[in-house]
Amino acid sequence: MNKTKPPAKPGSILPPSVDQPTDAGRRKALLAGLGAAGGAAAAGLMTPARALADPANLPPNVADWSKVLGPGVDVAPYGMPSKFEKTVVRRYVDWLTATPESSINFTPLYALDGMVTPNGLCFERHHGGVAEVIPDDYRLMIHGMVERPLVFTYQDLKRFPPQSRFYFLECAANGGMEWRGAQLNGVQFTHGMVHCVQYTGVPLRTLLEEAGVKPKAKWLLVEGGDSAGMNRSLPLDKALDDCMVVYSMNGERLRAEQGYPIRLVVPGFEGNMWVKWLRRIEVGDGAWMAREETSKYTDLMPDGRARRFTWEMDAKSVITSPCPELPCKQKGPQVIKGIAWSGRGKIARVDVTVDGGRNWHQARLEDPVLPKCLTRFYLDGWSWDGNPAYLQSRAIDETGYVQPEMAALQAVRGVNSIYHNNAIQTWRINPTGEVENVRLA
Ligand code: MTE
Ligand code: CO
Repeated sequence: MNKTKPPAKPGSILPPSVDQPTDAGRRKALLAGLGAAGGAAAAGLMTPARALADPANLPPNVADWSKVLGPGVDVAPYGMPSKFEKTVVRRYVDWLTATPESSINFTPLYALDGMVTPNGLCFERHHGGVAEVIPDDYRLMIHGMVERPLVFTYQDLKRFPPQSRFYFLECAANGGMEWRGAQLNGVQFTHGMVHCVQYTGVPLRTLLEEAGVKPKAKWLLVEGGDSAGMNRSLPLDKALDDCMVVYSMNGERLRAEQGYPIRLVVPGFEGNMWVKWLRRIEVGDGAWMAREETSKYTDLMPDGRARRFTWEMDAKSVITSPCPELPCKQKGPQVIKGIAWSGRGKIARVDVTVDGGRNWHQARLEDPVLPKCLTRFYLDGWSWDGNPAYLQSRAIDETGYVQPEMAALQAVRGVNSIYHNNAIQTWRINPTGEVENVRLA
């Protein structure tokens, strides 16, 4: 990494330490809307990384860090990433929303490996800021069409037999800025409203059985304890199928921003239904038609009608390297890396093209391939010759559903939608090695 690189200019959405090419040739829209990224000159992209290193630390010399006794244990009682990784953080785009309390930030997908998202990098979406719930004062109420209305404490919930499951969570608005054309120049921003962690908690079914759901019940209202009081209607059959009431993610207690002490997990469904700081479950026989399922989280169609209750997240994938944050630094062999996911089950196959869809190559899926989880894929054998290349990935899930091109998606849904954009993403590699977000007709 170039030590002398200047920080990104104010207003840039690109991480300051990620090597960025010059802005020559960038679309006007990007210059106007986002600001251009500073960074390494195009010629510098071809410089071997070793030329940037301090020769004193290179073989056969003994490196600086080998000559001193390092810090002892407990310098950081809660460990943090290496200081050299300090630019790998969630980022947000300040012009997207009016206030940070009702806003979103994005997972740095370009910097992650495997299929698990580290807790501190899981994107956040709050409608009323992060609630600071005192665990001793926490209660979960289940009432309505039940035999026994119940109130659980945090400790009560931890006494039930637990289960642990990996699931992705994707905000329905992920990619929402990209409907009408290529907008944001970074995979963190085009696709970063997704994370995948291992949850531990109680099946929702267990709690509903404890309360005794009445035979005529069909729906639940699930409500958060934050200042937004976010609530959604959830079909009872989904609640009894695979939903969980969880207290842990990746082995530790939920982070405050992910709903501490308790959140709902609704596998494969849009993130909005995964209520954080869960305080109330009402059992009923009809949907509540709450704000978040009527005014919001519906998809306006070309004929003026709106799709509603579009819960399941369609199969989707994206290439996370190369990408705008990770330009091609040199010609020759490149491993193309990416992630794919489907709200309907497992990813069955991912295809990758380097020529804008003329030829497709089957990618290697990395284990584990789990239902309703991010799946890591690689295309190993490609060599970049320095000419422009158009990289795309296409996910196919176990139901046979194929991720669509944007033109096909727009033919059905028009351009009024914000939510549920699962179109194929194109990255253009320019001769300088710079990678940009483009839309192929
Ligand atoms: N739950 C409550 N109580 N309040 C909220 O604002 N946001 C929802 C959902 N649950 C929200 C909530 C939305 S829109 C999404 S996408 C997910 O939480 C985001 O979860 P995360 O912040 O853990 O990534
Ligand atoms: Co959301």
